[in-house]
Amino acid sequence: MMSQSYSIRKAELSDALEMAKIHKSSLAVDMLSQLNNDDLIVKYYKYFIGKIDFYVLELDTHELVSFVGITTREFDYEEELKKFCKMYIMDILASCIKSIKAFRMILRKVLSPSNGAIQLNAGKRVIIPFEIHITVTKPQYQSMGCGKLCLNHAVEQLGITSCIVKTHSRRAARFYEKCGFKKTNAAFDGNWNLIVLSYYGGVVI
Ligand SMILES: CC(C)(COP(=O)(O)OP(=O)(O)OC[C@H]1O[C@@H](n2cnc3c(N)ncnc32)[C@H](O)[C@@H]1OP(=O)(O)O)[C@@H](O)C(=O)NCCC(=O)NCCS
Repeated sequence: MMSQSYSIRKAELSDALEMAKIHKSSLAVDMLSQLNNDDLIVKYYKYFIGKIDFYVLELDTHELVSFVGITTREFDYEEELKKFCKMYIMDILASCIKSIKAFRMILRKVLSPSNGAIQLNAGKRVIIPFEIHITVTKPQYQSMGCGKLCLNHAVEQLGITSCIVKTHSRRAARFYEKCGFKKTNAAFDGNWNLIVLSYYGGVVI
């Protein structure tokens, strides 16, 4: 557990460079981790301008350890379902052309009764106003409770009662589950591995 003194505060534009560096050191496989530092900083500046609320956990030594970014957006389940289904069809067509084997695989997924995307709360319209954009903890401070502390603080400060997070990582999904999120579905994003989790006042939706 975290034994050092720390505080959690809303991030400022001047934190962007450090946050970008932490991001790069923590995420091994990620589109942003391919960027050089300058481009990554620009990306983070854009995030700030793009109205992402960042909260940072900072040690008393002023070292930034963890941060979470949350956007305000309407997440409409019905719309998302339509989007995913459209992608299914596109992928099937593409696979048809590429190879019969891939086509069979896609078809099996579509027909599988356990396919989450197809059963994505069909017919149910749920608008979720917040989305967690990212949570990152510096590698040497991971598994000490920092990410959870930061996320909980942000959720409390923003008065969030319902929120969504989308991730490609099973590890990250397990972290979010520990923070009170529930797996809503395994959605299709072209790679079959986008996990959608939601938090809705502690209730699975
Ligand atoms: C995911 C990440 C943010 C977790 O941060 P962290 O500070 O290490 O997490 P915490 O120590 O606060 O863990 C909180 C809980 O989640 C659990 N947890 C954290 N990472 C986990 C993992 N990889 N697998 C399973 N459980 C995990 C912890 O055991 C802890 O459980 P507890 O509350 O029962 O004690 C961090 O590992 C990270 O920065 N990873 C790289 C970036 C990333 O993938 N971010 C998520 C996608 S945006």
